[in-house]
Amino acid sequence: MDPAGVVTRDRSIADAEGRGSTDRSSSGVPLADLQALERDALTRSYARQPVAFVRGEGARMWDTEGVEYLDFQTGLAVTSCGHSHPAVVEAIRAQAQRLVHTGNLFYSEPQLRLAERLAASLGEGSRVHFANSGTEAVEAALKVARKAGRGGEVVLLHRGKIVSLHRGFHGRTYGALSATPQESKQAPFAPLVPGFVAVQPTAAAITAAVDDETAALILEPVQGESGVYVLGDDVLRAAREACDRHGAALIFDEVQCGLSRTGRFWAWEHSGVRPDALTCAKALANGLPIGALVCGPKLAQVLEPGDHGSTFAGGPVQCAAALAVVDVLGDPALQASVLELGERLAEGLRELPGVVEVRGRGLMLAAELTPDHPEGAPAIVRRALLDHHLVLNATGPTTVRFLPPLTIGQAEVDEALGLLEDLLVG
Ligand SMILES: Cc1ncc(COP(=O)(O)O)c(C=O)c1O
Repeated sequence: MDPAGVVTRDRSIADAEGRGSTDRSSSGVPLADLQALERDALTRSYARQPVAFVRGEGARMWDTEGVEYLDFQTGLAVTSCGHSHPAVVEAIRAQAQRLVHTGNLFYSEPQLRLAERLAASLGEGSRVHFANSGTEAVEAALKVARKAGRGGEVVLLHRGKIVSLHRGFHGRTYGALSATPQESKQAPFAPLVPGFVAVQPTAAAITAAVDDETAALILEPVQGESGVYVLGDDVLRAAREACDRHGAALIFDEVQCGLSRTGRFWAWEHSGVRPDALTCAKALANGLPIGALVCGPKLAQVLEPGDHGSTFAGGPVQCAAALAVVDVLGDPALQASVLELGERLAEGLRELPGVVEVRGRGLMLAAELTPDHPEGAPAIVRRALLDHHLVLNATGPTTVRFLPPLTIGQAEVDEALGLLEDLLVG
């Protein structure tokens, strides 16, 4: 808890190595310089908070000034093991020293071992296809579903229909974006991919929408980006039944809610409704880019050589990191802690002034503020960051999302609640 150490300590290492003050890799670079660089060199793709982090450990991060923060955002459900988790760091170091890249034209042990671990998730006969991100895992899932729906024949839009749900988010590339029914995200990039329809996330709407033309229904068991909405078991059951009735593939996008975020390894396990395919990414390598599509037995043999691929996907360093992550996050004791601390956090949030509803499961939670809240979620998140050094995220004008590392303890949950109380009570 000695934040002053960050800049000083890193500089002293640089000095000892003879790199002196010109070495900026550990960044004592003033924020204003970074902001000037952003203005000159980057597209305006992101609205950033005025902070640059240079180091992290567990649930803590430190900025360029050496100020310590408590991270309840985890880069949006990515660093679930906490920052610089020793097992993940060691896995990356060891693999990077040995071999970083060969591509997918050769065998790679870390990739195959990870595939073995993930394939077990959807039962005997399942197979894994690797990608580099969540959106790419979704693209692969959509391609697999459409190819399966054609039964090997090239018939345009025969079983090409993809059904997705309102409030869903699946990514920004064209297929994934076409399954993400949000006007503001889709409209500037029209025309989108044909064949996509979106319906309300209810059992009745899903039952009516899935038909004999449908290649797939894609949904998040817990809808994350729209503000953490847990889909009811009745909705998931109706989805399963509709897909079975019409021979469509049921795809669960667990990019955000998977990997123990909700207290079970996969979110679908809470309901027992098993999908035909499952996408994951985000926390899989605790910050290195990776995505995976797990195809259950029905879809496992669909992809053939030449159908789909990627230069970097399933690279040895990402997969070595992911193997360490799966060990950490697959621990039943960690999952029990996620459920227990999730309850504690949710209860604490319910007590806070201005909070009218708390939604979510495990350590994937959202606090909904009163519709007429004087400040609103984005301003609260900003004040939490700048004045209270608590890192959060707003998913909408009145919704604050909580995605802490899954390795946190009770003390950190209570500390976050204390900071929020200070902030909201004033
Ligand atoms: C459920 C879900 N699917 C897909 C994506 C896209 O993942 P990525 O940003 O890694 O492409 C996200 C990202 O937030 C997500 O939450």
